[in-house]
Amino acid sequence: MPLRLELDRVTAGYGKVEILHDLSISVPAGAVVALLGPNGAGKTTTLRAISGTLPVWRGRVRLDGERVNGTSTYAIARAGVTLMPEGRGVFPSLSVRENLAIAARATPGDSDQRAGRIDFALTQFPRLKERFQQQAGTLSGGEQQMLALSRALMAEPKVLLLDEISMGLAPRIVEQLFGIVAGLRADGLTIVLVEQYLTYALQLADVCYLMAKGRVAFVGEPAELADSEVLTSSYLGVG
Ligand SMILES: Nc1ncnc2c1ncn2[C@@H]1O[C@H](COP(=O)(O)OP(=O)(O)O)[C@@H](O)[C@H]1O
Ligand SMILES: [Mg+2]
Repeated sequence: MPLRLELDRVTAGYGKVEILHDLSISVPAGAVVALLGPNGAGKTTTLRAISGTLPVWRGRVRLDGERVNGTSTYAIARAGVTLMPEGRGVFPSLSVRENLAIAARATPGDSDQRAGRIDFALTQFPRLKERFQQQAGTLSGGEQQMLALSRALMAEPKVLLLDEISMGLAPRIVEQLFGIVAGLRADGLTIVLVEQYLTYALQLADVCYLMAKGRVAFVGEPAELADSEVLTSSYLGVG
């Protein structure tokens, strides 16, 4: 498989504090790559560096072999990288319909094509269709994540970056969300998944990177990682 996304010795941080140190990650086209590791390991920072919301100090981020770091966040998004950030990526005071319309507005094509994308999103997430006129802030946590995910998908990304989509949700809802992600994987979407729920991450991922202190502590297939001592030694109290 050709590499869809590649981080080549990426260094980045906040202010003068270096957080990611020479980080290299390879994401084959169509693969799900999980970034795992304890709080503060640098997982969110890695997704920010990929999406351009945080500048890369040294090294390269390449999409389909082309360097994208150093261009704008907008250019990276247009090139096909979509970040679903930590927390709920919705406008709480706006309706489901308005939330989808705003996401559609950022996509190419005419108004018919945009309306078509909204329709398609609703067929994938029937729950949102039932709540079309409801304020997004009054949806359940799981429904808000579905809305955020449908907003992210509207960009028809080449690479979807998911940052702890299970955060704060009941296990039953998490299971549903991961069912949706599994469907996206089956459709061939390339996904970088940051996840605390190891069970789901290990089930879905083709490759796992275990991060610690801004570096890769381990890389391998889920089974190798599950067998490895490095997992238990680097995690505290994660089930
Ligand atoms: N906006 C920020 N400003 C300064 N430091 C930050 C900021 N965001 C994260 N950090 C620091 O960067 C390190 C990595 O954080 P983060 O990437 O959020 O880790 P993870 O997502 O793996 O929990 C932590 O030490 C954290 O305190
Ligand atoms: Mg994080």
